[in-house]
Amino acid sequence: MKIEIIKEDINFGGIVSEINITEDLNDTIINELDKKLNELCLLVFKKQKINDDQQIKFSKYFGKIEGAGNNTTIRSIKERRLSDSFGDVSNLDVNNRPLRKTDNKRFFALGNRLWHSDASFKKIPAKYSLLSGRKVAKIGGETQFADMRAAYDDLPAQIKHKIKNLKSYHSLIYSRQKLGLNMYEMVSAEEIINFKPVKQPLVRKNDFTKRKSIFLASHIGEIEGMEKPDTILFVNDLIEHSTKDKYLYTHNWDENDLIIWDNRQSMHRGLYFDDQNEIRDVRRTTISGTEMLIDQ
Ligand code: OGA
Ligand code: MN
Repeated sequence: MKIEIIKEDINFGGIVSEINITEDLNDTIINELDKKLNELCLLVFKKQKINDDQQIKFSKYFGKIEGAGNNTTIRSIKERRLSDSFGDVSNLDVNNRPLRKTDNKRFFALGNRLWHSDASFKKIPAKYSLLSGRKVAKIGGETQFADMRAAYDDLPAQIKHKIKNLKSYHSLIYSRQKLGLNMYEMVSAEEIINFKPVKQPLVRKNDFTKRKSIFLASHIGEIEGMEKPDTILFVNDLIEHSTKDKYLYTHNWDENDLIIWDNRQSMHRGLYFDDQNEIRDVRRTTISGTEMLIDQ
């Protein structure tokens, strides 16, 4: 196995070669990959033609898979294309056809184009995500990643001080609100409770590297002790700061690429592609975090 660093200047991202992820992998390899995920935030594997079972098997080396529960999607069970172990990040309906332009499921999925960290709206947010490009867009549909450690390091001292103990509230309701969507109209009164905001710290520290990062996502709609408009503007400013070119890696997908990223210290978003005329079948498995970061 060989790992080549993508952005040497900020030690962000790696391309892993000389590995076949469908094979049985020993502890030495997995520990090395885990160490590199802590250090580099994301790893790209090329030419890994895998099926769902192989993705599940590889994912389990990194922890427990968190399923696509009712608190992550508005698709009912019968509207889902993939097993419960997967997050369906494609633009497809249950019959493998592009979701129609006005379909609420499409609108909901467009939230992935906003900067975010996966499942930050859960009490225990996601640790790693693994995204496999089974079919990718011919034009566009790149995935961008932002290094939230480098972004934290470069914050002015007074902002570091200001955010040190701040607590933010994350919910899919807030991120979809930014798209002009009203989740209260999209799901029933019983279902809306699945999307109740959860409290997260605005600063995290990696146990292994001891580096701090800004824990940001478009899912944030409130910060404790701050007025709502001030919150929105402050979060926008932080996102703008954190997504400057120098902190970014843009992944231009080839079919059968697989990327693993560390949600604890990065943000990501998908970029535009013509989702009415192209098929983009990307499938995500998500590894759960191990504990709540703060009491709720
Ligand atoms: C995801 C995600 C963006 C993309 O899989 O969690 O946000 O480019 N994907 O599909
Ligand atoms: Mn995501």
